[in-house]
Amino acid sequence: MTDTLSLLKLRRSVPPQFLAAPGPDAGQLDQLLTIASRVPDHGKLVPWRFIVFSGNGRTQAAEVVAQAFSARHPDARPEQVDFERNRLLQAPVIIAVVSRAAPHVKIPEWEQELSAGAVCMNLLVAAQAMGFGGCWLTNWFSFDRGVLDAFGLSETERMAGLIHLGTPTSVPPDRDRPALADIVSYFGAKQS
Ligand SMILES: Cc1cc2nc3c(=O)[nH]c(=O)nc-3n(C[C@H](O)[C@H](O)[C@H](O)COP(=O)(O)O)c2cc1C
Repeated sequence: MTDTLSLLKLRRSVPPQFLAAPGPDAGQLDQLLTIASRVPDHGKLVPWRFIVFSGNGRTQAAEVVAQAFSARHPDARPEQVDFERNRLLQAPVIIAVVSRAAPHVKIPEWEQELSAGAVCMNLLVAAQAMGFGGCWLTNWFSFDRGVLDAFGLSETERMAGLIHLGTPTSVPPDRDRPALADIVSYFGAKQS
């Protein structure tokens, strides 16, 4: 319990430029995805799924992003295209968490989307507990229909996040966290 609290108190993201090999191996990845799937899910709809990018798949995905960027910006300089390609070439393993939220007779789509967010968070926490660093990003291309098509997302699916995972080469300084006084109120009298 104490270990869990210590981890959660200090957990933070490690940006992809500080994530190197090794990333999680096949066994660790199975563990991570199993843990990530263990989230609250109103109606047990499993309104999310995973796509793993590593090895050749990661290289191909990076090329998809580079081509989409070039199509959007025909005048882009080669180094700008390289910069965009490189977004998926830093962390050795990237897990796309895909939201499958859809209209349902009882369960609001909002709740299904929140469940996908919980999946992303579980992945970050579990990865750090395993000794890896992680970062939850979307970037512009998570909203580019052509890129989503190439990644295999259907018209009704959305990218909840790309979770970049690897071994931290350095851990940048933490950022400020919100002061509780700014975000907490009590309905009725505060209990002492
Ligand atoms: C859904 C979602 C998408 C995000 N996408 C980006 C992004 O595209 N680019 C970025 O710089 N940060 C993005 N972030 C923020 C990063 O995850 C950021 O590094 C993180 O908030 C750092 O906080 P932490 O150390 O508490 O994890 C995103 C966060 C969320 C929740």
